[in-house]
Amino acid sequence: MRLDKFLAEAGLGSRTEVKKLLAKSLVTVDGTVQKDGKFQVDKNSTAVKFDGRPLSYQEFYYYMLNKPAGLVSATKDNLDKTVVELLRPEDFRADIFPVGRLDKNTEGLLILTNDGALGHDLTQPKKHVEKEYFAHIDGRVTEETIARFAAGLTLKNGEVARPAELFIEKIYENTDTQLRIATDIRVIIHEGKFHQVKRMFEAVEMYVLYLKRLRMGHLQLDKNLKLGDYRTLTEEEVESLKNKA
Ligand code: URA
Repeated sequence: MRLDKFLAEAGLGSRTEVKKLLAKSLVTVDGTVQKDGKFQVDKNSTAVKFDGRPLSYQEFYYYMLNKPAGLVSATKDNLDKTVVELLRPEDFRADIFPVGRLDKNTEGLLILTNDGALGHDLTQPKKHVEKEYFAHIDGRVTEETIARFAAGLTLKNGEVARPAELFIEKIYENTDTQLRIATDIRVIIHEGKFHQVKRMFEAVEMYVLYLKRLRMGHLQLDKNLKLGDYRTLTEEEVESLKNKA
């Protein structure tokens, strides 16, 4: 492959940035300074170094992030901090993006990758990739709410949400210390409409106070990841996502 492509894939920047680094004689190939981006290298056997540091070729990167509230699921934003800004400098690459969106105030599992094909497959509506959420709901979720979710709901704007599985985890009765009735739930949805979980509860005249994604396809949020932390996905996790997509 071309040296400039190799360097870009190794995370040194765009082709233009790579060209500048080459011009500065910072890149060696098998011990010799190489300034020509068109120079051919073998990604498996050629020793390429940048500023004396060996570079290895990796095309795709996959991370699991426990998204905190307050950040937007985007790569750039004029007002807010974005989820890719949580990547440490050594992991940051300009082509990494979040797979699908969690709202600014939603927490939990978000995949960050530069694998455009996987990102596309996981978010394609017709693939019906399951998503599981935990939520704290203002008010009492009942068997009737569960039945309405199971039947599929018409949202306030007339759109139809496909059937979803709703489970009650805990009901908070109003007491001296607990002023309002509230319910902890888990919900599994099979599509990814804008603000879907919040809008499904709005359709049954209820309000989501807190929302966290627990699972996407077979991929569970790692319980050891603190809010704002991320880790590389294992090969098995990447494969299971690919099989789901
Ligand atoms: N549903 C929502 O309403 N918000 C999210 O962030 C994800 C699902």
